[in-house]
Amino acid sequence: MQLLIMMGGIAIIGLLYWYGQRLRIMPVPTLPAARRRALGLMPRDAKVVVELGSGWGGMTRRLRRAFPHATVIAYERSILPWTVARLSGPVIRGDIFAADLTRADIVFCYLSPWHMAQLAPKFDAELKNGAHVVSVAFPVPGRTADAQDASAYLYRYAK
Ligand SMILES: C[S@@+](CC[C@H](N)C(=O)[O-])C[C@H]1O[C@@H](n2cnc3c(N)ncnc32)[C@H](O)[C@@H]1O
Repeated sequence: MQLLIMMGGIAIIGLLYWYGQRLRIMPVPTLPAARRRALGLMPRDAKVVVELGSGWGGMTRRLRRAFPHATVIAYERSILPWTVARLSGPVIRGDIFAADLTRADIVFCYLSPWHMAQLAPKFDAELKNGAHVVSVAFPVPGRTADAQDASAYLYRYAK
């Protein structure tokens, strides 16, 4: 029994590590204070909210509660966080760089400087006029935030 538990633990750590290497980030959740700040920056009339990298789904649930009338679309590739996140609602097991952002009113991210640098041209190309990006901890390179609350940044895209 102990051996089985140990092997299960090793498998879990191995999977998290493997996806962490591949995706260049571990599924670390946003802290409650950062979630509050990010949600406080978001315009309330959004109809489509996209979360790039749901992790374990904690922020996805907060977004669904904060936007009960909106469609919240979350993407996650790492198998274990995705399995947990989808217990409380649909999460697309897909790549954030292939996500369709054209309908998004708000895009939420808590990623890394590398991810934000890759996403910046995608935001420019796909986001519609008036769409917003809210990013925790890592700004969008080459852009000045329209609002900021500590480590949460808000960007409004105008075409
Ligand atoms: C730091 S976690 C953020 C979790 C959640 N958004 C939150 O705020 O609590 C970033 C997540 O993005 C996922 N991720 C990174 N690159 C990805 C990619 N290319 N496609 C899909 N998910 C990705 C990671 O697996 C990780 O779970």
